[in-house]
Amino acid sequence: MDFEKRLTEIADKVTVALDQLIPPAQGPEANLMRAMRHAALANGKRMRPFYVIETGAMFDADETSLLRTAAALECVHTYSLVHDDLPCMDDDDLRRGQPTVHKAFDEATAVLAGDALLTLAFKIVAGEDTHRDPAIRMRLTERLADAAGAKGMVGGQMIDMLEEESPRDLNTITRMQRLKTGALISYSVEAAGIIGGASEASRHALAGFAQDLGLAYQIADDLLDVTGNQETVGKTLRRDEAAGKANFVTLLGVEGAQERVRLLAAQAKQHLAIFRNKANILLQSVDYVLDRTR
Ligand code: IPE
Ligand code: IPE
Ligand code: MG
Ligand code: MG
Ligand code: MG
Repeated sequence: MDFEKRLTEIADKVTVALDQLIPPAQGPEANLMRAMRHAALANGKRMRPFYVIETGAMFDADETSLLRTAAALECVHTYSLVHDDLPCMDDDDLRRGQPTVHKAFDEATAVLAGDALLTLAFKIVAGEDTHRDPAIRMRLTERLADAAGAKGMVGGQMIDMLEEESPRDLNTITRMQRLKTGALISYSVEAAGIIGGASEASRHALAGFAQDLGLAYQIADDLLDVTGNQETVGKTLRRDEAAGKANFVTLLGVEGAQERVRLLAAQAKQHLAIFRNKANILLQSVDYVLDRTR
């Protein structure tokens, strides 16, 4: 099937699921739910849900389990964006083609909407409907905490904030990117393997795939900041250099970073060889990441 069509189908499904899972805006706290909805129901690419669902499909995993886990992961990712955009972090006004949450509402509401999305993610993944086996739900929950927390996404964001004062070598940057972006992408395929009962060899291959893909994904994001079209990307561009951010583009230049993405993409694909033609859609997704314009 055509890759972009499939991505759109999955994105629509995830948006419907999120609409059902986020509480309706009611009571004196209604603005909180409105802000959660503003962030989560907006036009995200839903790449992490795509990886949960399409990786799970390789193992004939249960679709409800995959969709709920995908929705939970998208809640964590969306919360990370809401907080990433705050004035104390990247101070951005535009996200997913619309005003950031602190612009559309206010800073306190943005902090709280992020908190509530993160908390909701754990309710979703731990919920009985996610899997009949409580041991599987526990494993999914624990690994999500690892991917999101101090040794995962949040840890990477910390390094990103310190960047101005710390050495800007490729090793530090690679580690930062692996944590801030790689950890949640790795979770997407790991969770699918847990739900689908993947073999040790399969899980190993998927971990290798996600590690290269996650890094390529963030370098592509850093490239878009320099070379992208703001209308298509849906966020304010040319911000990283002005903010003194060090990344693969500031270190290697545009062409060097593009070359790195190509290399990582080729490596990512090699990890999928053991799945043969079952991995076709994942292979196509790598080309999409390589050439992405948003
Ligand atoms: C943006 O993620 C931030 C990164 C970690 C690179 P995406 O590019 O996946 O953003 P959305 O979800 O499509 O808005
Ligand atoms: C953010 O990286 C990664 C997160 C964990 C949110 P960026 O700061 O480069 O993401 P954008 O460009 O604002 O989406
Ligand atoms: Mg940032
Ligand atoms: Mg940012
Ligand atoms: Mg960026």
